Amino acid sequence: MSDQPIAVFDSGLGGLTVVRSLQQHLPGETLVYFGDTARVPYGTKTSKTVLQFAVQNCDFLLRFNPKLIIVACNTASALALDDLIPRMPVPLLGVVKPGAVAAVERSAGRGIAVLATEATVASEAYPRAIHALDPNIPVIQRQCPSLVSLIEEGRSSDDDILRRLLAEYLETVKRLDPAVILLGCTHYPLVAPAVADLMPAATVVDSADATAAAARTLLTEMNALTTRTGHGKLHCYVSDNPQRFREVGGRFLGQPIREVTWVSPEQFFHEHTLHPAK
Ligand code: DGL
Repeated sequence: MSDQPIAVFDSGLGGLTVVRSLQQHLPGETLVYFGDTARVPYGTKTSKTVLQFAVQNCDFLLRFNPKLIIVACNTASALALDDLIPRMPVPLLGVVKPGAVAAVERSAGRGIAVLATEATVASEAYPRAIHALDPNIPVIQRQCPSLVSLIEEGRSSDDDILRRLLAEYLETVKRLDPAVILLGCTHYPLVAPAVADLMPAATVVDSADATAAAARTLLTEMNALTTRTGHGKLHCYVSDNPQRFREVGGRFLGQPIREVTWVSPEQFFHEHTLHPAK
């Protein structure tokens, strides 16, 4: 049993979809979230840069003495997790493997289409994770470069422009007739209903939810679930623009965000005096 917090980071506010699932699967846990809003997007950056950012984000989160760090960003999980794990003194969980496991379970050996950012697609992390579980499953990937900004703009599943763009992205994956569409980006769960409408024969799988379930399993195995009952607190930290994070982030979290703390570059890189989350 452990009342230490679970730390979570993402390139910005998309990882709040993972937090939302964590709050459902692990309601009593204290969560500390860091959104790297000053350096988002990660989805167009190289693996060297993403690894450097990921190490810095973890170093920041380690100040809260977490029992687990969740790399909620698909791009950071795809490009940096393997190099990050041996550098960190606490267990790390990414979103790629849980997403791949959930997709394989639901595919019944038929095709899986992965929708993700440019960098995640280029890394081939999802096809690798899927083929490690079942080498015979056909996998097709599609990068959806404009989807993140349209979702952040507030366009939802019933928005015409978003649906037209999504239909174009899905055109190339249709030839596989996939059994599963795997949403391999933090933002995409917000438009899961549109994906389901446009691909009615496929099951839509969301890595956020699969990751929260995997976190629960991992903490149970570690005997590190909280002793607290009731709802655990969420503490949000960002590297820029806390106001925007609060306004837009509520849609990702599914409820209003009360407090967001800005971490200045001096605090982020040099100070080590933040108080542990209670
Ligand atoms: N969080 C990123 C991901 O899940 C999407 C936004 C970005 O490109 O940074 O891949």
